[in-house]
Amino acid sequence: MISKPTVISGIVGAGFSANFHYEGIKRVYSVNPDVRGVFALDQDQAAAFAAKRGITHFSSLDALIDAVDLVHCCVLVSGHEEVAVAALKKGKSVIIEKPLTGYLGDGSSSFHGDTFPKSDALAYGLASVERILEAEKNSKGRIFYAENWVYAPSIQREKEIIEKTKAQILWIHGEEAHSGSHNPTYAQWKFSGGGVMIGKGCHPLTAALYLKNVEGRARTGKPILPATVTARTAALTRMDNFQNDGFIRNDYFDIDDFSMMHVTFEDGTLATVFASDIILGGIHNWLEVAATNHRTVCNINPNTAMRVYNPRHENFSDIYTVEKIEQKQGWTDMPPDEDWFTGYPQEIEAFYRAAAFGEPVESDSLLGANTISTIYSAYLSAEQGGKEVAIRTF
Ligand SMILES: NC(=O)c1ccc[n+]([C@@H]2O[C@H](COP(=O)([O-])OP(=O)(O)OC[C@H]3O[C@@H](n4cnc5c(N)ncnc54)[C@H](O)[C@@H]3O)[C@@H](O)[C@H]2O)c1
Repeated sequence: MISKPTVISGIVGAGFSANFHYEGIKRVYSVNPDVRGVFALDQDQAAAFAAKRGITHFSSLDALIDAVDLVHCCVLVSGHEEVAVAALKKGKSVIIEKPLTGYLGDGSSSFHGDTFPKSDALAYGLASVERILEAEKNSKGRIFYAENWVYAPSIQREKEIIEKTKAQILWIHGEEAHSGSHNPTYAQWKFSGGGVMIGKGCHPLTAALYLKNVEGRARTGKPILPATVTARTAALTRMDNFQNDGFIRNDYFDIDDFSMMHVTFEDGTLATVFASDIILGGIHNWLEVAATNHRTVCNINPNTAMRVYNPRHENFSDIYTVEKIEQKQGWTDMPPDEDWFTGYPQEIEAFYRAAAFGEPVESDSLLGANTISTIYSAYLSAEQGGKEVAIRTF
């Protein structure tokens, strides 16, 4: 029997993403994960999270970091920089949930996402990125950027096609959408660093940036980076004439619920990325690649790996089918392993391997940094009515 190294880890945050990280850890197979405990601002939530799993509830961030080699940063965007920099300063590696970081406003009570100058989001968002990258540079720890779309099996199969056929990608078209986030804090820019363009748009955007990286490395040895972006955003559920039929969340305070980005890469090729919180019928996560020698549609979720017909909704009252679906009657595309199709266990496995063996990762801090730069440039473009904005890259 081959002996495996052990990676000692801890989770910061005890909500939705902490839960799927923990489920991912249970499926790590290349190393022995040893989850020591959890810390979160919400102490009661952290205590319940710890008790359910038989792990320690740490009373401070520092205590958790001191006890582990690898930190999971599963907190709201407003805490990403604090947690990541604290871990890196102590020489620990950190898995940072998407987005890498963000601009959370000026702290004033009058701050409002609709009205503040979006040049602030770009300037301060990138300043936060720089502080995080600097902390990584000065640390023996590393950043693993938890963008699960990069690790989704369909995106990894597309990577193989691009590498082996030396394809040129002309256009990537992707979308993440559903009928509204479950998280109450998501309604406000000051907690999430923006609206749907960053919250959901970051997923297909990062996958697009990643695949153009893959293409560049395969054909010339150099990644192909984004160069400019034009964008539009809207707040459709905040319109006075929005008709509330009860299916779409509509209590957002100062964020966009619809967005589209049109990214031009340095080689002149394109990506279009849509994100919205106004789509019924369950989650709608997909990416299409139009290349010179093939065309691929990655149906991340839903997909047709398993199709189920149920004549009565009540039959499935205790059966989970697919994320965000309104009802379970009729035909449902019900992924047999939703987490796997979404890339959650694969990213956690990759990060624990990297922590144990020093392997490179597909999703790193630079990919996260370029995502932030593109998105806040896109917010600036949307503020200017869709004017083209140059993207600073890392
Ligand atoms: N990859 C995905 O599909 C996906 C899905 C949902 C959320 N996320 C990301 O996960 C992160 C957290 O979102 P969530 O849905 O888990 O939120 P959540 O509200 O469910 O949980 C947040 C947790 O973080 C804790 N917390 C908040 N700020 C903190 C701080 N500064 N220090 C310590 N603890 C803090 C809270 O007490 C809570 O336990 C966000 O970055 C979000 O974008 C990713």
